[in-house]
Amino acid sequence: MTTFDDKNKIVADEAGNSKQADTAGYIILFFFIGLVASLVLGWVIYPNLLYSKKSQPIDFNHALHMEEVDNGCESCHFFRKDGTFSGAPTLQQCIECHEEPMGETTEELKFVEEYVSKQREVPWLIYSKQPDCVFFSHAAHVLAGKMDCVFCHGHIGESESLKPYQVNRITGYSRDIWGTNIGGFKKNSWDRMKMDDCSECHVRENVRQASVQTEKGGCFVCHK
Ligand code: HEC
Ligand code: HEC
Ligand code: HEC
Ligand code: HEC
Ligand code: HEC
Repeated sequence: MTTFDDKNKIVADEAGNSKQADTAGYIILFFFIGLVASLVLGWVIYPNLLYSKKSQPIDFNHALHMEEVDNGCESCHFFRKDGTFSGAPTLQQCIECHEEPMGETTEELKFVEEYVSKQREVPWLIYSKQPDCVFFSHAAHVLAGKMDCVFCHGHIGESESLKPYQVNRITGYSRDIWGTNIGGFKKNSWDRMKMDDCSECHVRENVRQASVQTEKGGCFVCHK
């Protein structure tokens, strides 16, 4: 039973009128508690359950390396003669400097001991990785379309540390595809790279509906 012992609150009368008002009050209160709880569940807890996190095998510092290399980003990410993109670097791009450890950081020692001296490639995790059914070409966008890396990838190239890689437990997609916002909203062009995001730009830029590269049309411009 209700009882507001406070003087300025309604006190239940014989007819039980305020009891009714109280019940309504509780319903509204529970409604809000429920709403807040489901918002927390939906926006905070669920995304954390939905994605599992992994650290990169080696934490790579882009900012530091941009001061050491001669050829900018292309020292490590370049187009081969046949137009294919090298993607994530192999040991070949590291070995001229890291044959032996230069500094004393644990990250560099780990890199030299576990990978360079054993000649094992580092199994980098690819944030922007698309599912296998998708065909993507860097040459079409960077060379022909003259786009910069930041448009699609954000500021990884200026970063001092690689963020954790998050994978969706249900779809197996990298979190960078759907984006970190669970509602799918994006502020920046690089926040998200779902089919809609590719198409949105293709429509705007009036991209051919048949591919020069694969000579296929329609869905098969982007699908294998
Ligand atoms: C000395 C080598 C080196 C240089 C120079 C370099 N990178 Fe990287 N980059 C790496 C390594 C190693 C990774 C880790 C692989 C990964 O996480 O994909 C990486 C990852 C990336 C990725 C993440 C791709 C993904 O989806 O996982 C982007 C984007 C990138 N680099 C852009 C750049 C840009 C832009 C520049 C120039 C401003 C640059 N990098 C210069 C070595 C380099
Ligand atoms: C042009 C020379 C050069 C190249 C090429 C190069 N590095 Fe380095 N790297 C350096 C220097 C210089 C340092 C700083 C050494 C120190 O004092 O620890 C460094 C540091 C590092 C560190 C330790 C950074 C830290 O924050 O603790 C790692 C890990 C590393 N490099 C990985 C790589 C990988 C992976 C590649 C190839 C994709 C690569 N490096 C290519 C010169 C180079
Ligand atoms: C139009 C958007 C777009 C632009 C512009 C772009 N990328 Fe990418 N990048 C992607 C997509 C999408 C993938 C994933 C491709 C896949 O999984 O097949 C990717 C993958 C990568 C990878 C990982 C490749 C691997 O699997 O080893 C690196 C590294 C990378 N990009 C670096 C760069 C750099 C450096 C630039 C600028 C020279 C650049 N990208 C420009 C969209 C873009
Ligand atoms: C910022 C705009 C933009 C975004 C985002 C974008 N594209 Fe493109 N894409 C273009 C442009 C412009 C071209 C045409 C380049 C040229 O050949 O002139 C193109 C061409 C292509 C081609 C080659 C077609 C041919 O002619 O061979 C493929 C494949 C492709 N895009 C796939 C993708 C996929 C997959 C994504 C999403 C992961 C994507 N694109 C995101 C602008 C974009
Ligand atoms: C501009 C590039 C582009 C075009 C054109 C395109 N797709 Fe996609 N599609 C993608 C990308 C990127 C993904 C992966 C990301 C995602 O799931 O949104 C995808 C994912 C899909 C998936 C989900 C696959 C899975 O494994 O979950 C289906 C189904 C699909 N596309 C069907 C189509 C059909 C049908 C068409 C033609 C009407 C089409 N796509 C045209 C880029 C494209």
